Amino acid sequence: MTAQLINGKEVSQQRLQIVAEKVTERQAKGLRTPALAVILVGNDPASAVYVRNKKIACEKVGFKSLSYELPADTSQETLLKLVDELNANPEVDGILVQLPLPKQIDSQVILERILPHKDVDGFHPYNVGRLVVKMPLMRPCTPKGVMTLLETYGINPEGKKAVVVGASNIVGRPQMLELLLARATVTICHSKTKNLAEEVSAADIVVVGVGIPNFVKGEWIKPGAVVIDVGINRLPDGKLCGDVEFDVAKERASMITPVPGGVGPMTIATLLENTLHAAELHDHV
Ligand code: GUN
Repeated sequence: MTAQLINGKEVSQQRLQIVAEKVTERQAKGLRTPALAVILVGNDPASAVYVRNKKIACEKVGFKSLSYELPADTSQETLLKLVDELNANPEVDGILVQLPLPKQIDSQVILERILPHKDVDGFHPYNVGRLVVKMPLMRPCTPKGVMTLLETYGINPEGKKAVVVGASNIVGRPQMLELLLARATVTICHSKTKNLAEEVSAADIVVVGVGIPNFVKGEWIKPGAVVIDVGINRLPDGKLCGDVEFDVAKERASMITPVPGGVGPMTIATLLENTLHAAELHDHV
């Protein structure tokens, strides 16, 4: 059986449409237009593409977007100063510092400087901690986008065995917490996991975010499982591929995300939902 494709492009467009309508409603009520500040340090080509896509999406839904492009040799102090200015600027609802940062900057120091209610990435330890104690405020975009996809396709994680492959702060760890919040039984696998194939083959829902092309083999997938591939890797021939061996996995899974067009567009849609949420929090300050 060939799996149903989970169309993240379509779902993200629906979600962006809802955000755009809410912006119009806010404007009709005399409320502020949400504004997102995006900071890019250095010239990593993949980061430049992500940042450009974020800006385009902001414009599409009618947000204000402020963009800061700093040279690769920017000091930590200079970046902290910019974050402080944006924290203090009442016109700014959300602040996003694109990762990775150049090596002279400690990203954790920067992320902890962003005010938690402007932290639309949900990476500040305050927001991570709130997710741990089942009181989420700002939720990391990619894992939250994955939960939106599951919900949209009628997949309820409650009581299911979910396996997350990859334990990064951006994807794996918060994904584990999101799935736990949705009452799945969660296993998180990482580079020291023994018998990865065995772990994956027990899963009803598999979420993979490791950044290695075709890392999870199609034959590991349990027949009927739901496969969510967060990876976006560029192959030497210029084509994009995910972290899951798609052609084999799609013959075993019941539903699977393609790459591109699966999780990627959901990350951006969720970022804009978080920015709208930040603007709503801001209304009450
Ligand atoms: N780099 C890769 N993914 C992300 C993300 O979701 N947010 C930020 N800020 N940087 C990233």
